Amino acid sequence: MNSLQSYGDNLNIALIGASGGIGHAVLQQLLENANVARVYSFARQPLAAAPGHYPGHLDIADEGSIERAATSLKGVSLHLILVTTGLLHSETLRPEKSLRQLEADNLQQLISINSLGPMLVAKHFLPLVPRKQRSAFVAISARVGSISDNRLGGWYSYRASKAALNMLLQCLSIESRLRYPKLVVAGLHPGTVNTGLSEPFQRSVKPEQLFTPAQSARYLLKVLDGLSEADSGGVFAWDGERIPA
Ligand SMILES: NC(=O)c1ccc[n+]([C@@H]2O[C@H](COP(=O)([O-])OP(=O)(O)OC[C@H]3O[C@@H](n4cnc5c(N)ncnc54)[C@H](OP(=O)(O)O)[C@@H]3O)[C@@H](O)[C@H]2O)c1
Repeated sequence: MNSLQSYGDNLNIALIGASGGIGHAVLQQLLENANVARVYSFARQPLAAAPGHYPGHLDIADEGSIERAATSLKGVSLHLILVTTGLLHSETLRPEKSLRQLEADNLQQLISINSLGPMLVAKHFLPLVPRKQRSAFVAISARVGSISDNRLGGWYSYRASKAALNMLLQCLSIESRLRYPKLVVAGLHPGTVNTGLSEPFQRSVKPEQLFTPAQSARYLLKVLDGLSEADSGGVFAWDGERIPA
């Protein structure tokens, strides 16, 4: 069982996107982790409070709500900030199979939620991180955001939004080196996980390659535990492999 031991004990963690398939599994494992003191979870519909669990409201597409969420933690020292929000499809949005299906509104929505949202979280939450302590800012990315790994094409907007997220994380890792020398900034690819997000696209996935959310959460927390400052700015898969840009 992963312990996040490398970050020390008595950890305070902000988890943005706790209502999602992966986010909720991460939340449950954090609440069972002896090194974790408090989890401040955020979602559009706040979850139920429990010992060590302090839920709040946040809409990743609304900077005002992100700022208010960060302000609600004033005085808290955060060791880990985890962003598990994301969007691939909705009633009005389908990943494009061809250029003909590209719609400005859809691309803009995915950029807003998958790329800009996590960075606005960094903008407002990072001031809560102690400057000299080991800490991490991590957002869930996706392997399909790798430009050099893109051999199949398609999914223009989702791929672009995750590639943009990866670039923004790299910029953040460079800027934060001086102010937060022990901060690790990273994107994580969770594998193909059985959640609402992947549900319409699971037909071609072999059963052994489809992770449960709990399985993926376990892998992700283990990778997070093993990341060092030298890894900052990178994107890592569920098995710890570095994903090329
Ligand atoms: N599942 C996979 O196979 C897979 C593979 C690669 C990468 N990923 C990435 O993993 C991350 C988590 O995905 P998942 O599989 O757990 O999907 P999910 O179950 O659909 O969860 C998505 C989460 O994002 C939140 N969200 C969406 N729009 C939001 C908004 N405007 N404000 C606040 N929260 C918002 C959802 O909140 P609500 O509950 O309020 O809707 C939910 O908590 C995403 O970044 C996804 O791209 C997933």
